Amino acid sequence: EHKYRRFPTIDLPDRRWPSRTIIEAPVWLSTDLRDGNQALFEPMNSERKLHLFDELVRLGFKEIEVGFPAASRTDFDMVRRLIDEQRVPSDVTPMVMTQLREDLIEETVRSVAGARRVIVHLYNAIAPVWRRVVFGLSVDEVEQLVAHHVRFLREKVSEYPQTEWVLQYSPETFCMAELDVSLRICNAAIRCWDAGPSRSIIINLPTTVEVATPNVFADQVEWMSQRLERREHVVLSVHPHNDRGTGVACAEQALLAGAQRVEGCLFGNGERSGNLDLVTLALNLYTQGIHPGLDFSDIAAVARVAEQSTALPIHPRHPYVGDLVFTAFSGSHQDAIAKGFAAQSADDFWAVPYLPIDPRDLGRTYDSIVRVNSQSGKGGIAFLLCRDHGVKLPRRMQIEFSTIVQKLTDASETELSSEEVGELFVSTYLAP
Ligand code: KIV
Ligand code: ZN
Repeated sequence: EHKYRRFPTIDLPDRRWPSRTIIEAPVWLSTDLRDGNQALFEPMNSERKLHLFDELVRLGFKEIEVGFPAASRTDFDMVRRLIDEQRVPSDVTPMVMTQLREDLIEETVRSVAGARRVIVHLYNAIAPVWRRVVFGLSVDEVEQLVAHHVRFLREKVSEYPQTEWVLQYSPETFCMAELDVSLRICNAAIRCWDAGPSRSIIINLPTTVEVATPNVFADQVEWMSQRLERREHVVLSVHPHNDRGTGVACAEQALLAGAQRVEGCLFGNGERSGNLDLVTLALNLYTQGIHPGLDFSDIAAVARVAEQSTALPIHPRHPYVGDLVFTAFSGSHQDAIAKGFAAQSADDFWAVPYLPIDPRDLGRTYDSIVRVNSQSGKGGIAFLLCRDHGVKLPRRMQIEFSTIVQKLTDASETELSSEEVGELFVSTYLAP
């Protein structure tokens, strides 16, 4: 029976630090089928979308953004199939996105009619550049636009009382907008929806384009969290992108600052440099001893579905999933890893040097952890001989044999498989 073992952490010298730590997993929303999909060379067809939807459910996502049905026939049909074929489990809520236009809102509501519970996602860009250059609207006009369409949605959904309706409002470009403007507009949405114990609302703060360090975003989130009206009835969500390569850090900082929910995509697919990588964030929590509530115990299978759905390869150095992320070539690392494995007991902390997590937690094997090329040393070579060939070398022989391996790999400039290391050992010492 495989058991989770955490890497030991070091206490900081003063108990005031760190001032905050994440203590529970957020609510997750996968936007693979919407934000992820809109960034693909070839957007997914209905079949591919349904397949990915089923996988997201299997992984444990309880909220899944399924598309933009008023803007795309494929999305409309896919959403209808989800509902008509009763493919949405009772504990999963689909989310559908639409712009602030009455006809689009009507079409969106039609697309999900008959569902048990739905999140309708309204969004509009609010930052000064967009107000001035794109829409030519004043702050008052943007606020009225939001208020009007939230009221319109509220009236529309009242025609479908058998469905539980949740509003998500996203002030797109939030991270580039004045905070008082964001607050005014989000509060208008909260009031016009009449959020309360039986009328849920999600306020979703995006870094539509990442432009600042994660602590700045966290301060913006905290400022909002402390001032939003009816805060106890608001689920505060974040939607980081990754333009500066800090999407995961933004989400982690935002969770420390009061966010309760995180939106992103598997392996960071999404517009430009991607959306927040849900897998990395979830597994970062996992390594801190917080179960994310998502199942990545067979990460290779998740990677296969994601690669098939997006037709994009995952980088070999991608955290947790990349082919090379649990591999050591260098001699000193191999030596430390070999000693770590020898000392590791089943009940103790996970304490194998250079491996921040037990690869078996992710369904990975130990096969590729030590690989041999010209950088490798005696520890790694001895480890492979012992693990894969049952040969335990005394220290002097380890030194001698590793020199032979190094000469060969230096000359060939290639890697030797464990099998080849075994053959070389036999031909060097045992062949007649
Ligand atoms: O990145 C963004 O701002 C979005 C919103 C629609 C939430 O995708
Ligand atoms: Zn986005």
